[in-house]
Amino acid sequence: ASIYESSEKASRYLANEIAKLIKENSDLGKHTVLGLATGSSPTKVYEYLVALHKDEGLSFKNVITFNLDEYYPIHPESLQSYVRFMNEHLFDHIDIDRKNIHIPDGTLPIDQIKQACEAYENLIQHYGGIDIQILGIGRTGHVGFNEPGSSISSKTRLIRLDKVTRLDAASDFFGEENVPARAITMGVGTIMAAKKIFLLAWGEGKANIINQSIEGEITDFIPATFLQKHNNCTFIIDEAAASEL
Ligand code: GLP
Repeated sequence: ASIYESSEKASRYLANEIAKLIKENSDLGKHTVLGLATGSSPTKVYEYLVALHKDEGLSFKNVITFNLDEYYPIHPESLQSYVRFMNEHLFDHIDIDRKNIHIPDGTLPIDQIKQACEAYENLIQHYGGIDIQILGIGRTGHVGFNEPGSSISSKTRLIRLDKVTRLDAASDFFGEENVPARAITMGVGTIMAAKKIFLLAWGEGKANIINQSIEGEITDFIPATFLQKHNNCTFIIDEAAASEL
């Protein structure tokens, strides 16, 4: 784990790392594949990336993105949609080509989801895999929406949200009863295939799950523990989130 004084400093570090890779690859005429997360944890990283675009001309023309997850069902315009989240926090403010943006589709008819999930996996492969994957972590130890019980080799799929996760999302949806029961998420296996992973966590509310994820035994009961097996994964956390390590 890398422990920072503040989430601002940590987020600036990660934004600079991402920018460095984008520039290196662009100079070689290559694209960069980013795996992106939603939630409050990565918002400052996106803020700094937007600033690097506006102030220093960082271009996202050679960037391809895959988001981790999306509620199901959900309309992309709705307040809680991850499509809307990503537009507001990042995509509307940078020069990324819209056709290079990929987010699981929360509007699909149920009988088309399996095929769409396979297509999502194939597309990631097609672009050579994810170079940098950003993750947050839920109270259940989920990464993306891989809830307890998700296997280390799981792929993109429709899953049922944990009770705790729906409770945590209740305020966003103005009541627990409005939180979708399901979501589409990249699998743990999809995430583990990324070349480099950064998991972000801030605040004392994350201290317990961060401790369990880093120091606990590897178990599908806490999917984030699978990250211990990745050879290039860094937990970027602030002092409060590190307080139980
Ligand atoms: C949701 C997202 C996760 C995210 C988690 C934590 O469950 N699907 O990807 O990591 O929330 O959110 P936050 O960063 O707001 O704590």
